[in-house]
Amino acid sequence: ISPDQDHYDHLFKIVLIGDSGVGKSNLLLRYTKNQFKINSQSTIGVEFATRGIKVEDQYVRAQIWDTAGQERYRAITNAYYRNAVGALLVYDITKYSTFQNIERWFAELREHAECNISVLLVGNKSDLRQSRAVSFDEASSYAKKHNIAFIETSALDSTNVEKAFVKVIHDIY
Ligand code: GTP
Ligand code: MG
Repeated sequence: ISPDQDHYDHLFKIVLIGDSGVGKSNLLLRYTKNQFKINSQSTIGVEFATRGIKVEDQYVRAQIWDTAGQERYRAITNAYYRNAVGALLVYDITKYSTFQNIERWFAELREHAECNISVLLVGNKSDLRQSRAVSFDEASSYAKKHNIAFIETSALDSTNVEKAFVKVIHDIY
């Protein structure tokens, strides 16, 4: 179905969070426009894009919000999380610190979002195999421990990007 579809049965607000540079904006760009930017600038404030998807026989509009990983560029936290029903917690598989900081992002999410929000842990940049710094198993057990889903993606080569968003949308549904 077309992303500009005016008619929809459900509107799902989904938020992207994680450190600066992990690829949040490119995951959004890949999912909503099938594009990728090698030299993408850090996000300032908040942006969002939408995409339509059919779930069973209902039209869902996914409204995906993206903000800066950098504190100084972030917009007011409360407004960002308000009414969000899904969240992608994103780290970069080549940068261990971005995985360690997931703990922080997860805490912020629990503090500001609804308690029944669907959360997906996303290890992005899976195309950079040779520079991997976070093992699949470590991230997978972290996700299990916190009772959230987990997937590795590449916004660059498209691996699992569609699957990640569809998973969150189905979980919400
Ligand atoms: P902030 O807006 O600062 O929070 O960063 P961000 O999380 O939105 O990161 P962004 O999407 O701007 O990507 C940062 C850099 O990583 C860019 O140079 C992208 O081209 C690159 N990048 C994003 N996703 C991937 C990926 O899957 N693979 C590779 N190799 N590079 C990626
Ligand atoms: Mg960004």
